[in-house]
Amino acid sequence: MSEESPQVPADTEFAFTAEREERYQELVRRYPTNFSAIMPTLWLCQEQWGWLPAGVPEWVAQRLDVPVARVYELITFYTMYYLENPGRYNLQVCRNVSCHLMGAQKIVSHLRDKLGISHNQTDAEGQFRLEEVECLGACGFAPMMQVGKHYYENLTIEKVDQLVAGWRQEGERGE
Ligand code: FES
Repeated sequence: MSEESPQVPADTEFAFTAEREERYQELVRRYPTNFSAIMPTLWLCQEQWGWLPAGVPEWVAQRLDVPVARVYELITFYTMYYLENPGRYNLQVCRNVSCHLMGAQKIVSHLRDKLGISHNQTDAEGQFRLEEVECLGACGFAPMMQVGKHYYENLTIEKVDQLVAGWRQEGERGE
């Protein structure tokens, strides 16, 4: 793929919702260069689609008139961008010092066995993804994990089991 000529697959069309398009136009006005607007634009995409489906990085490059390689550089450097569907519940378990000392690895092993997935894997149903992450700034409540916008703290095996059972029920009810 040429760095200078971002291509979007011909049969793929992407568009922001009207509200996101407004936010996109605003951020393009606010950021001093199009390069500095790449990350917030990707964030808007991820907010809309839940991840960055094939063709979206190229679409972003085209809209901002920047080389597609610059878009991929950022996507692959930062761990919060997903080129694969992270599933409905992305379990981000902190593995940094405080959480490690308080038993994060036991939590991770338990989730691995329970869900049958390893680090950075999504289950076959697309419901759960497991990810070990660095410090999330809640060290005083270790061990902890983030799922979506929520923090779950002072985790124990029992607490994790309850959470997973609740999410499974939500999934069954189609919530
Ligand atoms: S070490 Fe886990 S939140 Fe800081």
